[in-house]
Amino acid sequence: MVTNKQRLGVGLAHSKLILIGEHSVVYQKPAIALPFEAVFSEVKVEPSNGAVTLASHFYNGKLAQLPDKLQGLRHVIEKACYINQQPVKDFKLTLTSTIPIGRGLGSSASIAASLARGIFDYFKKELSLSVLRELVDVSETYAHGTPSGIDREAVISDEPVWFIKGQAVESIEVKEPLNIIVADTGRIGDTHAAVSAVNARRQSEPEVTNQLLEDLEKLTENARTLLKTGDLKALGHVLTTSHEKLKALGVSDEGLDRYVDISLSNGAVGAKLTGGGRGGCMIALTASTEQALAVEQALLKAGAKETWYIQLTNGVKTDEKNSTCTHEYRSY
Ligand code: MEV
Repeated sequence: MVTNKQRLGVGLAHSKLILIGEHSVVYQKPAIALPFEAVFSEVKVEPSNGAVTLASHFYNGKLAQLPDKLQGLRHVIEKACYINQQPVKDFKLTLTSTIPIGRGLGSSASIAASLARGIFDYFKKELSLSVLRELVDVSETYAHGTPSGIDREAVISDEPVWFIKGQAVESIEVKEPLNIIVADTGRIGDTHAAVSAVNARRQSEPEVTNQLLEDLEKLTENARTLLKTGDLKALGHVLTTSHEKLKALGVSDEGLDRYVDISLSNGAVGAKLTGGGRGGCMIALTASTEQALAVEQALLKAGAKETWYIQLTNGVKTDEKNSTCTHEYRSY
């Protein structure tokens, strides 16, 4: 028999990368997101007496005293207890996360998913996909205002996803392995502010802005076809063109543009910002592991705070190879 002392709930969720379609996805256009398992969040739930506490690298203390910007997490925890018909007391939460915050990697969605999974695991209740989605949305609405929902889907899916707001998520076919370097500029981006800025531009310059959003839609559709046919060179071109469109939308910055240029001049077939932009992370697509490592070295030399190398193929988990990368991850 499991005693109260031994009771433990655990919840895990990886982070995400947007391959293409960020920002335009807010306006019912498609986007492609990839699971990013190199960085993830984990929540442990254990019995404790009295008020619920949260221990993490960004907050230590009572749930009731969480600062305003973390209220979304409190709502996830309270709602998860409510659904389980349990009082919000007599347990403590320990959150560890290796996902850099505010870098467009879906940190807030991942943490919300881990919290939901951890609490349901603690109460030994099955967590359906629809309830998980609902709980992650509670936190995402606090973090981003009017999120498209792509971060939520990407952190709970183990496969690349084709996402259109309000529609069922589809999986994506990837014919050739994708060698991707992810680089963190080390600068925090504000997704909420970037999304609001695009919205404001849509009001002040509707024609130009709507054209950019439509261009991004077409590029995303092309990217899906090219993933299926395995034409990496053409896919790279599509990714770089989408970066130009995002730049024109006003969501890039000098640092991201510089990393894109450095990636391209060091052999990447394509490069772009990923996520909300204005800081945060960028991705570079290369045709081989060797090229990926060369691009990674160049980005580190240029000052990237952290880099990761991922290789995505359809269905097969590839073995690790030697790498000079700060992190290495292979998926499928
Ligand atoms: C953030 O990862 C992606 C954005 O398109 C915002 C959203 O879709 O909610 C910038």
